Amino acid sequence: LKKISSQFYKKRTPIVAMSYKNYLNKPEEVGLLVEEIILGLKESKTEFMECFLFPSMGTIETVARFCKGSNLGFGAQNIAPQKNGAYTGEFSIESLIALGGRYVELGHFERKTLFFETNQQIKEKIHLTLSESMIPVLCIGETIKCEGQMLEEILMEQLKELLSEINEEKVVNVILAYEPGWAIGQAKPASIAHIHRSHTCIRRCCERLFTKEIAEHIRIIYGGSVSLTEVSEIVDHQEVDGVFVGRFGHEVNQFLEIIQRVSQMKEE
Ligand code: 13P
Repeated sequence: LKKISSQFYKKRTPIVAMSYKNYLNKPEEVGLLVEEIILGLKESKTEFMECFLFPSMGTIETVARFCKGSNLGFGAQNIAPQKNGAYTGEFSIESLIALGGRYVELGHFERKTLFFETNQQIKEKIHLTLSESMIPVLCIGETIKCEGQMLEEILMEQLKELLSEINEEKVVNVILAYEPGWAIGQAKPASIAHIHRSHTCIRRCCERLFTKEIAEHIRIIYGGSVSLTEVSEIVDHQEVDGVFVGRFGHEVNQFLEIIQRVSQMKEE
């Protein structure tokens, strides 16, 4: 895990993440897709970026096999709140570690709305993830579209609730995914202006909760109907460190092209 450098942090590694949710569930098919993604990554000049995938749980072992030794990372879309024990039907972080995964997606809008996951549960999972030296990808964002002070209050409240008990050494390893509920599963993402304002606001909230230096370390990515069409504009802002892709990354070429665009925008 990263340690906070004493010098002021300059550059955050850009991210392209993707979740297959429960769309692609057949190990063999997903294996072929991942193989193609890895091949595409090899041929691109994107080593300076961090790319990773959240496959559906039933395909995670296959994905792990393909990802081994490649520059595509992977993680779990959810974990049980404790390492092991009587948690019927849950996925343990122990399995993820054994498979070589690094990332744990937490607090996704669908987990909260369809499976009634609470902040308390999300918090436990963040703590477990960090204590196992894994990287939480923590989703936050407003459910109903709003702006200005109202939005700032909602985001601050979520960040405070979820992050305030984490020590400063560890919190820099959290990746925040700004995913407004109203922009998930749509034809288009939130407006570019809304995304840029919200990311600036999230960075400011982190600064208020921790320090300026820590806030500068934390990576914030945008998710919600990201496609090739808008991706360059989305990441064309200093507070946007990458994207979290859903449906519009199912096609390998589209996904690779999204990575390409982000790398072009974020190259030094
Ligand atoms: P869509 O891009 O399919 O809306 O999904 C985004 C998402 O929820 C990623 O976590």
